[in-house]
Amino acid sequence: MHYPWWYVPFLTAPMLIAVIAVIHVFVSHYAVGGGILLALENQFAVKTGDKPYRDYLHRHAKFFVLLTVAFGAITGVGIWWTIALTSPLATEKLIRTFVFGWAIEWVFFIIEIVAAFVMYYHWSRLPEKTHVIITWIYALAAWISLVLITGITAFMLDSRGLIADWSETGNFWHAFLNVQFLPQTVARTGGAVLLAALYILMHAAWIFRNTNDPLLEKTVRRMSKPLIAGIVLVLAGAAWSFSLLPDAKLLSVERTVFLTILFALFAGLSVLITLMVFFGPVLNPKSINFGFAVSIFILSLTALSVAEFGREAVRKPWIVDKVVLGNQIYASEAAERQESGFLKDSYFIKLPNDKAQLGGMVFMYHCNNCHAPDRGLSPAGLLVYGEDKAKIKDKIRSLNVPVASMPPWCGTEAELDALADYLLSVNSKRGK
Ligand code: HEC
Repeated sequence: MHYPWWYVPFLTAPMLIAVIAVIHVFVSHYAVGGGILLALENQFAVKTGDKPYRDYLHRHAKFFVLLTVAFGAITGVGIWWTIALTSPLATEKLIRTFVFGWAIEWVFFIIEIVAAFVMYYHWSRLPEKTHVIITWIYALAAWISLVLITGITAFMLDSRGLIADWSETGNFWHAFLNVQFLPQTVARTGGAVLLAALYILMHAAWIFRNTNDPLLEKTVRRMSKPLIAGIVLVLAGAAWSFSLLPDAKLLSVERTVFLTILFALFAGLSVLITLMVFFGPVLNPKSINFGFAVSIFILSLTALSVAEFGREAVRKPWIVDKVVLGNQIYASEAAERQESGFLKDSYFIKLPNDKAQLGGMVFMYHCNNCHAPDRGLSPAGLLVYGEDKAKIKDKIRSLNVPVASMPPWCGTEAELDALADYLLSVNSKRGK
């Protein structure tokens, strides 16, 4: 069944998800890594009786709770709204399959929020040992939500060996049995720790201002190990994940300039960040000021965004690997649609009699998940600019042949004709 489509001009709806998701990732990874670091450092400060350091951690906890709880929750809900509007079929399938996973995640989310507030508001009121336990409860609950969500997104990327038959009903355990689950969990855990250590550096450098402040130096020294551990885990997880990509997905990385550039950018940024961490916090902890901390932070956010975009791009033509295609149908329906029509009268669709309208509608359902029509992201009209109708139809008939990131053409000749006219009409407004 087709749900209503959602047209986001210029960007396309999935790109809007990507933008919101990347912002969410910055905060949600901090929520996990920050939990782990606050627990470790709080335990260390209690054990060594280091009151000033523990007081600083308390100040950091305020910034941490405010940012992660408020902003994390808003952007998290934002993702649910955008995925449900953009890819309703895939969202439905994921909810049906992993409802239990989200239920568990929400339970841990509640534990997380309660623990976060207890941690902050009762920082100096609880006995120290009890407080250390609370910070560990927070850290564990936050990490478990990372593991659950990573399992689901890893399954969306590669369901190899699990989906034997395209129409197979979902299975909750596929979130943990897919090949990408472990490497991505390693990479994301590393990313979380790395990002959190950078948030702490930035916050401490902002608060203390004076680079000679012994408490700043102490914080920087304490953060150098998590920074290195984070980088090692991210790189190991990313390399492991990449090495497991099936040949078909590797092929699209290698033959698409955009993906090659993304890959090179990630490698370059990784080297740069590693060098900065090594020559900054690790070797010269006294040299860290706010500007330097912000610079590594921004570079790391860029590397993280590049990795997320790469993962999304590699997943194409699938929204959910081998289950839901990028043209918003189940893979199992493709053959039948080619015979009887891509669009059908149904609850949300009333097929128009007008051919021009039909062409536009076919475009919105079949192409708009990855292409804007005329202006914006990879505009399909411009991709066939200057070609005549017969050529355009030929291209669309074998859509997935030149570019394996595209789904196969899943419509009839009449729909193809209407779509080709639509693309020509879009183009007739350009190039004059
Ligand atoms: C799941 C994503 C996806 C969908 C859906 C999709 N495409 Fe594409 N398409 C791509 C990607 C990725 C490329 C590679 C170029 C790029 O980076 O934009 C591409 C390239 C193209 C090209 C250039 C190919 C060439 O050989 O010159 C055309 C034309 C095109 N798409 C048309 C369409 C049309 C028409 C539809 C709908 C019937 C469609 N696409 C649906 C992802 C998609």
